[in-house]
Amino acid sequence: MSDNYAVIGNPIEHSLSPEIQSIFAEQTNQDIHYGRLWAPTDGFVEVVEKFFADGGCGLNVTAPFKQDAFAWVKEADPLAVKAKAVNTIAMKGDIPYGYNTDGIGLVEDLRSLAWELAEQKVLILGAGGAVKGIVQSLLDAECELTVANRTFTKAQQLQQDFPQIEISPLGDLQAGWNIVVNAITAWDDKFELPIPKEVVAGAKCYDLTYSRTGRTPFLSAVEPVSSATADGLGMLIDQGAAAFHIWRGVLPDTNVARSKLRKQ
Ligand code: ATR
Repeated sequence: MSDNYAVIGNPIEHSLSPEIQSIFAEQTNQDIHYGRLWAPTDGFVEVVEKFFADGGCGLNVTAPFKQDAFAWVKEADPLAVKAKAVNTIAMKGDIPYGYNTDGIGLVEDLRSLAWELAEQKVLILGAGGAVKGIVQSLLDAECELTVANRTFTKAQQLQQDFPQIEISPLGDLQAGWNIVVNAITAWDDKFELPIPKEVVAGAKCYDLTYSRTGRTPFLSAVEPVSSATADGLGMLIDQGAAAFHIWRGVLPDTNVARSKLRKQ
């Protein structure tokens, strides 16, 4: 029987992770089954414990359960500890071990785009759960990081955990960034950029949100003034590759998944 893996979340039906992990498995000749696991928002622990009791080998964890996963695992790697969030669980014997590969995924994707990070001025818009998962990896890549958020107290809380970052209210931002990373969720077609466009003028703009076409509301808004744009599909693929490596000890070539998932 194949080794059993899944991604757990709520909602979960639109997750691309099963498709990504199947591509990795086929490419590396690994005999795994990878499915979707829905859990009620107050039922993470029950669903996860049943999954592993039934012989499950590993999980990816997506919204809204990354903090629940951090609380549930018995051991966690340093990036998960810094983020207080887990997106990958592996069993080591009977011990559930938690990892956070989101920041690794983002930095890998920025490297494959050839967007230099060291000593570059990087602005993150937003200070929610997704940001906690990427800050340490961006700092490790030696960029100069500023986080701007609508609710300034959340940026201040983040700075307590990561004293190396600068913080700013959204309304005080000036231009002069090399890279702007959007981590503001709640984008829809009616949503408007909550900062003047001039702030991102000349910057490379990355959206943590993704779509198969590569178009997102944020990227459409900044495209006329930015020097380059990318959505978060590459980050999703790269964080999945890091998880696959943790579980299977093999690092897949992510270019195959990149070309298969992207719709022209
Ligand atoms: P995620 O887990 O995806 O990071 P989250 O933790 O809910 O989601 O964070 C959402 C982020 O989008 C927050 O930074 C939020 O700003 P606040 O902390 O002020 O709520 C930001 N956000 C959501 N809607 C926004 C809006 N209309 N304008 C500006 N920022 C917004």
